[in-house]
Amino acid sequence: MDLFAGKHLDVARHAASSLGSAASVLRFLMQPRDLAHPDACDFLAGNPQEMAMPEYIDALQRAVVPDSPSYYGYGPPWGPATTAVASALGERLGLELDPQDIVLTRGASSGLALLMHALIDPGDQVVMMSPPWFFYEAMVLAASAEPVRVPLSEADFSLDPDAVEQAITPRTRAVIVNTPHNPSGRIYPEDQLRNLALVLEKASARIGRRIYLLSDEAYARILFDGRQMITPGRFYGATFMLHSYSKTLLAPSQRAGYTAMPPSMPGREQLRFVLMAASLASGTVPDTVMQRAMPELEKLTIDIPAIERRRDRMVAEMRRMGYSLASPEAGFYLFPRTPISDATEFCDWLAERRIYTLPGEAFERPGHFRLSLTASDAMVERALPVLEEAIHTFSAARAT
Ligand SMILES: Cc1ncc(COP(=O)(O)O)c(C=O)c1O
Repeated sequence: MDLFAGKHLDVARHAASSLGSAASVLRFLMQPRDLAHPDACDFLAGNPQEMAMPEYIDALQRAVVPDSPSYYGYGPPWGPATTAVASALGERLGLELDPQDIVLTRGASSGLALLMHALIDPGDQVVMMSPPWFFYEAMVLAASAEPVRVPLSEADFSLDPDAVEQAITPRTRAVIVNTPHNPSGRIYPEDQLRNLALVLEKASARIGRRIYLLSDEAYARILFDGRQMITPGRFYGATFMLHSYSKTLLAPSQRAGYTAMPPSMPGREQLRFVLMAASLASGTVPDTVMQRAMPELEKLTIDIPAIERRRDRMVAEMRRMGYSLASPEAGFYLFPRTPISDATEFCDWLAERRIYTLPGEAFERPGHFRLSLTASDAMVERALPVLEEAIHTFSAARAT
């Protein structure tokens, strides 16, 4: 199926060109599949496969009941929500955050859309690491700006601050970094983030314009083995930290999150006003129910030890079968190497057996495939023998 084949529709052409590489991801994601089939094993995306947490539903039910006539009216962000977020996020990240520096959004992607609207001029360049999250490019293109890719290391997806430095030109306005990283599960360590901060500080001075760092921290609370999240906002003042409840509460269609500025953000008083105006203009304000529930939502997370156990089971089993894969430090995903270079062919073979995964081509890393650990334990048990058959089938075919 070609979603953008509308020869007679200018809008289809426009959609295809402005989506960039996300168009091919959408083509893949929107293939007809029977995900409701009892044997389907859905490893495609960070989507819930079990009922939402009862505490989450209770919080939303309480928040839906108005306490005044203006409850569902237009208005500024709800103060107790920004206060609760500033205190909880500040504590997690080791920063003293001011509630006025918290902008409530409809998730991390909504925060990115807001920042594109607020910061980026047509013709600007935005540097992003590859593999990127699928929709960064489309968002940069939507702002009439140019995406510039910097590869993460081949071996372990490390940041390369020197390569970032080389990618910066007088047109650079922003750099997007994603930690913990999707799809590799890396949490960027302090030394790499400090080096990146130094590079951005020097480059901003060199080109005579402030380069903003957009730190996509959507997986900041899905951390394994007692690890800590480190935000680059501790080392580089001009950082926007993008957060989301989509992963933490595994209810991504119920849109909510926030973007925070550290106290060292240059010009943050003016930026508060710029962001408020941009959030109204770009429609990124979360609805009343999500704002009112936020102080309670901040205290909740899904069962992370359960995801960690699933990670351990799959990593151990897949290594035993002969797959090469790192054990993720955080996030929802495994990103093993495929036994053949064409990951799409490999994922199609799995999909014919109702094991749904994403090929590395969707992440600009052919030769890999991504499996989401949000699949249920029953799906994992059904999928493991098929994954074993897959590696034997393709390794044998390669050997002949
Ligand atoms: C790295 C990354 N950033 C942003 C998002 C979007 O998150 P949200 O649902 O908060 O918009 C995702 C979702 O998968 C993601 O993986």
